[in-house]
Amino acid sequence: MRKKLIAGNWKMHKELNEAYNFIKSLSKEINEIKNVDVAVFPPFIDLQIVHDTILENKIAISLGAQNMYYELKGAFTGEISPKMLKSVGVEMVIIGHSERRNIFNETNDFINKKVKSALENEIVPVLCIGEKLEQRENEETESILAEQLTNCLQDISCSNPNQIFIAYEPVWAIGTGVNATPQQAQDAHLFIRKLISDIWNHDIAKEIRILYGGSVKPSNAKELLSQLDVDGALIGGASLDAKSFSEIINIAANITK
Ligand code: 13P
Repeated sequence: MRKKLIAGNWKMHKELNEAYNFIKSLSKEINEIKNVDVAVFPPFIDLQIVHDTILENKIAISLGAQNMYYELKGAFTGEISPKMLKSVGVEMVIIGHSERRNIFNETNDFINKKVKSALENEIVPVLCIGEKLEQRENEETESILAEQLTNCLQDISCSNPNQIFIAYEPVWAIGTGVNATPQQAQDAHLFIRKLISDIWNHDIAKEIRILYGGSVKPSNAKELLSQLDVDGALIGGASLDAKSFSEIINIAANITK
């Protein structure tokens, strides 16, 4: 049984007071939910207050960051190290988000270094992969996913499936309101699971959690999360509002596959 993870990627949203208020509101909505893991990925500046508010309200939410650099310290103006993230209670980190790949030109090779560093520093990477619209239209989805996954996981071993998450985020579904159909998501997730089996082994592939991201909202969450190989969601827009985020968490909690 793979426990679902419902994760909110806030992207570049929420100032300190908004971050604080969000966690306060969420804590009222979700304190009873036990069978779903929940994580939030605020901007760096909000990490401390989110960490403190989670502790203060005794809620079971993991804290994640949206990015990190792979070096531990040094002359890297504007960057954040894994050790710095750990010092504010960060347990997980999104790596290779399509916005980092496409706006900030991150390559698979660069992402590979970050995944390695996260693992070495005992932060759980949420490695994002996904095809662009024209790649899907040209029937290149599987080759793109294979290329991204293989290169981003190059020379990385895995002995524990809870060490890492994969997020399938088709670029054309991010922030567009057009989600992948449940079947498209299932097909991609199953393909990714088979790749993981080739890269590592069958046991890891069976247990590793693969999240879907791209226009997940309360109205489509049930269908998407009911797919056999969809083990959770990485949510942008709909995670910014405590009500819609908790609605999706509740939907996930009520699904039995
Ligand atoms: P949206 O849910 O806003 O489409 O964003 C998805 C995403 O990029 C999560 O990382």
